[in-house]
Amino acid sequence: MAAPVLILQEIDSTNAEARRRAEAGEFGPLWIGAKRQTAGRGRRGRAWETDTGNLAQTLLITLDTSPLEASQLTFVSALAVYDLVARYVPPSLVTIKWPNDVLLDGRKVSGILLESGPLGPGKLWLAVGIGVNLKVAPQGTERPATAIADHLSAERLAPPSFEEGAQALAETFDHWLDVWNAQGFDAVRQAWVDRTPGLFGPCVARLTHETIEGTADGVEADGSLRMRLADGTMRLISAGDVFFGVGG
Ligand code: BTN
Repeated sequence: MAAPVLILQEIDSTNAEARRRAEAGEFGPLWIGAKRQTAGRGRRGRAWETDTGNLAQTLLITLDTSPLEASQLTFVSALAVYDLVARYVPPSLVTIKWPNDVLLDGRKVSGILLESGPLGPGKLWLAVGIGVNLKVAPQGTERPATAIADHLSAERLAPPSFEEGAQALAETFDHWLDVWNAQGFDAVRQAWVDRTPGLFGPCVARLTHETIEGTADGVEADGSLRMRLADGTMRLISAGDVFFGVGG
C-alpha cells in the first residue's frame, strides 16, 4: 500500500524536513509534500525553485540495506516519475535521461534528490526528494525546462492539482518499490533502460573536478554509466551531469 501523504503549506525543503524527522527518530514511510519551499535543494548544491502549483515532496523511509543498495532507489524514483508524467501527457513524449532526470518532449520536467543517513548497523534512513513541474516551467534554469500543463493529453483539460499529483506519485512509487522488493534491481534496471534513450552515443560528463568527452556505452549492472574516452579507456560514471548527443 502506498505510504501516507502529508501536505504542508510551506517549509524550507521537504528533504530537510525528512532529515529532521529521521534524526528525531521517525522512521516513515511518509511522503512529505509542500506547496511552497523557501530553500528547495537541487543536485550538486543548486537551488530548486518550486513555483506555485508544482509538486515538491519527499518520501522518508528506513531501509535495512547498504548505502550502495539504497542508491538503486534513484532508478525506482525515475520510473515512478515517468509513470506519473505519462498519466497526463502522451506517453511517447516522456523519456528518462541518465540517471534520473525525467524529460518531457526533451526538456526537464522533474528533479530527484536522494539523501540518507545512518541509523545503526545495516540500517539507514533515506529521503527521496522529488520535484515535478505540474503547472509551470521555471524560468532561467541551466537546462531547458517544461511542465505537464504544456503537453496535456487530448482528454485532459488541466494538469493535476498538487493533491492529485502527490497521491499519484505515492502510487507510482509504491508500484516500482514493490518491483524492486519482489523482483530485485535487475527488473528495475531493465525497465529503466527501456525508457532511457541515448545510452549508446556521444556524450559529455561534467564531474566534480573535470569534464570529460566520450562515447556512452550502456550501463553497468549497478546502473553506472560506461563511457569510452578518445584514448580507448573506459570510465564508469556513478554521479554527475551528463549531456548526451554531444562530444564523442
Ligand atoms: C535536481 O537538481 O534535479 C534535483 C531537484 C530535487 C528537488 C526536490 S523538490 C522536493 C525535494 N525537496 C528539496 O529540497 N529538493 C527535492
